[in-house]
Amino acid sequence: MKVLLTGANGYIGRRLKQTLLNEKVSLRLFVRNPKSVDPDLEVEIAEGNTFDSDSLNRALKGVDVAYYLIHSLQDKNYKELDRQSAQNFLDAAIKQGVKRIVYLGGLGVKEQASKHLLSRIETGEILSSQPHKIETIWIRAGVIIGSGSSSFEIIRHLTEKLPLMVTPKWVKTLAQPIGVDDVISYLNASKDLNIEKNLIVDIGSQKMTYKEMMLGCAHALGLRRWIFPLPILTINLSSYWLNFFTPVPYTVARSLIEGLSSEVLIQNNHAKEYFPQIHPISFESAVKKAIQNMEENQVFSRWSDAGGEHDQWEKHYKDDPASAVLMDRQSVKIGIIPKEIVYHTFTSIGGKEGWFGYNWLWEIRGIMDKMIGGAGLNRGRRDPHKLRIGESIDFWRVEDLSVNERLLLYAQMKVPGKAWLEFKIIEDELIQTAYFYPRGLFGRLYWYVLVPIHYLVFRNMIKTILDKAHKKSLIK
Ligand SMILES: NC(=O)c1ccc[n+]([C@@H]2O[C@H](COP(=O)([O-])OP(=O)(O)OC[C@H]3O[C@@H](n4cnc5c(N)ncnc54)[C@H](OP(=O)(O)O)[C@@H]3O)[C@@H](O)[C@H]2O)c1
Repeated sequence: MKVLLTGANGYIGRRLKQTLLNEKVSLRLFVRNPKSVDPDLEVEIAEGNTFDSDSLNRALKGVDVAYYLIHSLQDKNYKELDRQSAQNFLDAAIKQGVKRIVYLGGLGVKEQASKHLLSRIETGEILSSQPHKIETIWIRAGVIIGSGSSSFEIIRHLTEKLPLMVTPKWVKTLAQPIGVDDVISYLNASKDLNIEKNLIVDIGSQKMTYKEMMLGCAHALGLRRWIFPLPILTINLSSYWLNFFTPVPYTVARSLIEGLSSEVLIQNNHAKEYFPQIHPISFESAVKKAIQNMEENQVFSRWSDAGGEHDQWEKHYKDDPASAVLMDRQSVKIGIIPKEIVYHTFTSIGGKEGWFGYNWLWEIRGIMDKMIGGAGLNRGRRDPHKLRIGESIDFWRVEDLSVNERLLLYAQMKVPGKAWLEFKIIEDELIQTAYFYPRGLFGRLYWYVLVPIHYLVFRNMIKTILDKAHKKSLIK
């Protein structure tokens, strides 16, 4: 059986990829940025985009089962994009003779669906619209609990930060959460299911309210929390509130909040009927597992780590360096300090390690970012030591990584332009460069106003990296 996995760098896709690889399935990954796939992985890669039919046809050629784990939620125009993307995928899959599509969508009924859920339902309807030509297994899940999942991160951040919560009335809405490992089990088993028809499978564990989930999470974290639902909090206010206290940016917070007012409950018994071997674990066990994974730095994937469409560096700078940049460049000789120690030091940037000095200024920048709807510093890092291309570090994203040579970060904070921060080792020199591609006059103004602060922060940053690397080399 030949399997194509789309969304292979996404939260669910990354985990499913590992399960399929462990099972030694003949696997092909469909990715937009091949650099974001671990080069040590022995797997076939098809580069492409669902808006490019040629790339879809190439990727789907010879495939028996294709997983569709794609959405464009980060884009303002996601409804239209998702519809087009699903249609292109279906057309190419039929053309290439694919036998089955497996899709993971959201739980809930159309009549009460938020704009986001409606878009997920539309995607499922499109993918399953030609049952006589291709069969579709459409798995529907509500709140997914696992280390790094957006729902769990929101619940965790709120419960950790706020001992007393005045919340909107949606905390009383009923849902059926499910542990991420169980979601992966259903998806994996779907490729082997012996049926020849379309199937919708609703998955979840026990029924509970969001309030019960937050209190359950607090209990697992050993915290006591008090929650008071108020009917007067609006969607706007709740979205700002979620944006401010949790790692999700405003647009994501708003889509999620809109969805929280309607119940997300299982509508059919197909999970038990067709997958009797899978027994979903309870909410409490899923939370405990997620917390344990976080504590042991075993977070496998995070909601914020889908790579993004373009390699921004390739797009904006590489082919036209002269047009790009205002820059701040600092360099130091690394002398006798081994390269790998210097590399290891600068790649530990962000998260709990901080930004090598002036962390309070970074904190202020993070708060400002949150105030205008950005991600802020709350996303932290997945792992204190390891990095991979495409993942987020606070309000940056790893755009390039070459062992013992280079780290390139792309700024995902709200800035009037495009910004990168690069660390590079060339021979015995560490070179640190902040690049800025300004948008209009305001972009330039922004850069020049910040020149004195940048001078302090960046000069100190490279010195601190060298000092830390030096100390580490003495211990070794
Ligand atoms: N996560 C949850 O809590 C949850 C809950 C219920 C249901 N689901 C469903 O599960 C599915 C996967 O969700 P997820 O959380 O894993 O999403 P995710 O982390 O945001 O990943 C989305 C993936 O889609 C890819 N993608 C987006 N547009 C594309 C395009 N035009 N062509 C090719 N690839 C494209 C992205 O690729 P890049 O890596 O290149 O950016 C990324 O890998 C979705 O259908 C979602 O509705 C998720």
